[in-house]
Amino acid sequence: MDLSGKNYMAFIQRQEALKKQYSPKQAEKQHLKGKLTAHERISLLFDSGTFEEIDTFVTPASQPVEFGKVERTYGDGVIVGHGKINGRLVFAYAQIFTIMGGSLGLVHSKKITKIQEMALKMGSPIIGLMDSGGARIQEGVASLSGYASIFHNIIQSSGIIPQISVIMGPAAGGAVYSPALTDFVFMVNHTSYMFVTGPNVVKEVLNEDVSSDELGGAEIHARKSGVAHMIYDDEENTILALKKFLSYLPSNNVENPPFVADDGSVSDVSEKLRDIVPDDPNKAYDVKDVINLVVDRNSFFETSELYAANLVTGFARLKGKTIGIVANQPKVLAGVLDIDSSTKGARFIRFCDAFNIPILTFEDVPGFLPGIYQEHAGIIRHGAKLLFAYSEATVPKITVILRKAYGGAFIVMNSKFLGGDFSFAWPSAEIAVMGPDGAVAILYRKELAESKNPVELKKELVKKYRDKIANPFIADESGYIDEVIDPAMTRKKVISAFAALNNKWVKVPARKHGNMPL
Ligand code: HXC
Repeated sequence: MDLSGKNYMAFIQRQEALKKQYSPKQAEKQHLKGKLTAHERISLLFDSGTFEEIDTFVTPASQPVEFGKVERTYGDGVIVGHGKINGRLVFAYAQIFTIMGGSLGLVHSKKITKIQEMALKMGSPIIGLMDSGGARIQEGVASLSGYASIFHNIIQSSGIIPQISVIMGPAAGGAVYSPALTDFVFMVNHTSYMFVTGPNVVKEVLNEDVSSDELGGAEIHARKSGVAHMIYDDEENTILALKKFLSYLPSNNVENPPFVADDGSVSDVSEKLRDIVPDDPNKAYDVKDVINLVVDRNSFFETSELYAANLVTGFARLKGKTIGIVANQPKVLAGVLDIDSSTKGARFIRFCDAFNIPILTFEDVPGFLPGIYQEHAGIIRHGAKLLFAYSEATVPKITVILRKAYGGAFIVMNSKFLGGDFSFAWPSAEIAVMGPDGAVAILYRKELAESKNPVELKKELVKKYRDKIANPFIADESGYIDEVIDPAMTRKKVISAFAALNNKWVKVPARKHGNMPL
């Protein structure tokens, strides 16, 4: 090659121009906001030296701009490429806020759709590191079409490759639907926000004052809306957590998640499990204590921790293999099922099912939350989602009933007749149509009304109900559960049950798709 030739010189000049494009001044602007640059994010995310950028030199669409101007930059404000994370191929894009606010023009969008299509073809996860003012105003409808193509690709890839969004700055307007359509959303506290209409519009339309953080900050989306699944205090920790998170997931829907050898430090038999559920059925405990004694040491990665905390969801490993955990949390609202926990559980279960991740359910649920708000807001419709998701899932499904399993909630939480594969119960389990107080009040209303000592009578009847009905033995003797087990043996039992289900194969009737109650 003639290194002094015209093209080679042009090649060098372009490289030089590219270097100047990303000036230290711009980096400083990001740093001052507590943010990293897109390049820094990419290099933190990928295994050292493995990221290969493509389309580095594409320039914005050259159609005439009637309003404002489009900067003629290389790359059009987004980095796209592929590399290795924990040794596995992953595709990613990172928006560059310092170029036109990371706004999405036509070419910017085409770079993203190109990488989306590659990720789908290769069966590899795709990660979007988002920091953008949304649709590029100057490019008008062309940028809207760009968003539409991105949305369409996400939907086409849904359930085939894991798609993860990390919000590291603004995500405003319709642009929020790009992360919302992906499987998991990570956000960074105080530097990222998502809203369909921002504080100015809220003020204009509703005359309400609200800051960006109050309206759509990470904390709000993690706690209240459920849009964000994981939040962290800074970008470094967000990216580190994301890398760990990926280690639980398969690259696609026909691969298994990576095997991470168990260090053997969790005993298969743990007597501590016998002491977790209090004797008093009205006393709370932390179901995460149960989870952590059953799964491999330190392997539980909780998702949506702050949202609908009455239902715990997350990934963990059992003897090195990824499983999904769904558990009622007696510590929060007594573990009751409500609208938010139902939708949280349903979405998590559907992800596990799409990606062949077996599901382990720990059940201690007094029922569905009563009340005008829940009924009027549609607990019937939303509770049905959880029911649908459990029943529809064909991955191995095991339930361990720890304590309360009353009414519809017993059925919903992966009961055998809903398609659960194994159902175990601890001796502390109470399996019945309803709790003792409700049952006594309904069946003995007259007797209680006529009694000289209704308090004593009720106490007696409640005790009788507990002894005769609210226990696991009737269900055990009639085969409605598979076995009452010693809590200490839970890990051992669950490991062998999942091993027995390793080759589970279910033929689903042919159809376009079911009609989940949305
Ligand atoms: C073009 C944009 C832009 C956009 C920001 N910029 N958003 N350029 N199109 N959408 C540019 C700014 O002009 C500025 O350019 C630079 O990016 C940095 O923006 P600042 O406003 O200076 O930064 P900051 O104060 O941090 O505020 C960031 C921001 C704000 C909150 C994102 O810029 C903003 O509100 N932008 C508009 C957000 C929005 O409403 N987008 C449309 C969403 S609707 P200079 O040259 O000064 O550096 C949408 C439709 C999608 O996206 C539809 C999908 C179905």
